[in-house]
Amino acid sequence: MSQAKRIVLASRPHGEPKASDFRLEEYAAPTPAAGEVLLRTIWLSLDPYMRGRMNDGPSYAQPVPIGGVMEGGTVSEVIASNNPGFAKGDIVLSRAGWQTHALSDGNGLAKIDPKIAPISTAVGVLGMPGMTAYTGLLDIGKPQAGETVVVAAASGAVGSAVGQIAKIKGARAVGIAGGKEKCDYVKNEFGFDECLDHRDPNLAAKLKEACPKGIDVYFENVGGAVFEAVFPRLNFFARIPVCGLIAHYNNTEAVAPKWASVMMRDVLTKRLNIRGFIVSDFAARHGDFLRDMSGWFREGKIKHKEFVTEGLDSAPGAFMGLLKGANFGKQLVRIGPDKA
Ligand SMILES: NC(=O)c1ccc[n+]([C@@H]2O[C@H](COP(=O)([O-])OP(=O)(O)OC[C@H]3O[C@@H](n4cnc5c(N)ncnc54)[C@H](OP(=O)(O)O)[C@@H]3O)[C@@H](O)[C@H]2O)c1
Repeated sequence: MSQAKRIVLASRPHGEPKASDFRLEEYAAPTPAAGEVLLRTIWLSLDPYMRGRMNDGPSYAQPVPIGGVMEGGTVSEVIASNNPGFAKGDIVLSRAGWQTHALSDGNGLAKIDPKIAPISTAVGVLGMPGMTAYTGLLDIGKPQAGETVVVAAASGAVGSAVGQIAKIKGARAVGIAGGKEKCDYVKNEFGFDECLDHRDPNLAAKLKEACPKGIDVYFENVGGAVFEAVFPRLNFFARIPVCGLIAHYNNTEAVAPKWASVMMRDVLTKRLNIRGFIVSDFAARHGDFLRDMSGWFREGKIKHKEFVTEGLDSAPGAFMGLLKGANFGKQLVRIGPDKA
């Protein structure tokens, strides 16, 4: 019987997660019962939402219980099947979590065709982050040709796709990212018109220069100081899809907005449309997303960048890094080879 490994939540973090909040466990790989398949994880996707699952408190999803396997999307191979819907060797999108093996009754598994694109894209540009960018930008942001779209975490999984889709729609794309290397990549490889460093003390002034006609769509990924720099530059009737607030995920206390009254005055007078969303709200758009995004990907109009760490043991460190910008592209963990 082969050995399996999993990473469980050992304790709930207070502020930044630390290594001791995770525990690596080894156990014998399970055997599938009637109707079940045994999965071997190839790629584990690490995503910022996992920080929320480590907290116990009201949210849109259940927290991971203490001692429970950390949640996560995976690309996995069926290595044994007692389910007529799946054959040994099938590659599937699963929510197997932070572990090398998992049992499934087949519910929620989606087969991946390795001929269409590299299989890792099923948790990246052609998966949940890509769909988040596509629906948040097109269904809430509604960019028009000639308008200006601003997005932060612009070298990351969601932000990089937001800017490239904005360009496809004829808009000006301005990214915000951490450091010169990321900003250069966002401009030169992802084709944004401009990219600014959020650590630059003159961010507000640089933003004014980079957006001479103001901002029509602000795709909110981070909050914090970036939001404060962007907000005064929003145009009348601007749209703000609120996708994520990663600058605040480790906060231990709610921060009282000092200028809430000023902000709400602008929401009113500028008729701003601020709308939060979770990608699953747009499940009905999945077919449109796959058609458009895989077409753009094939045509080279949408590029992606992956940032890979090796082995399940690397997942906690990689995840802690993701919350601080240590990743440069879609954060993945390679758990096993593409072909066993
Ligand atoms: N609503 C939904 O359904 C949904 C779905 C997927 C993702 N999201 C959200 O979308 C956002 C991006 O997710 P992703 O998967 O694409 O992650 P990502 O951009 O690949 O990685 C996170 C990035 O956030 C940036 N960051 C961290 N702290 C920051 C701070 N204080 N100020 C500015 N930037 C900071 C870092 O980039 P820099 O080095 O450039 O700072 C880091 O690389 C997250 O907020 C996530 O929660 C929401």
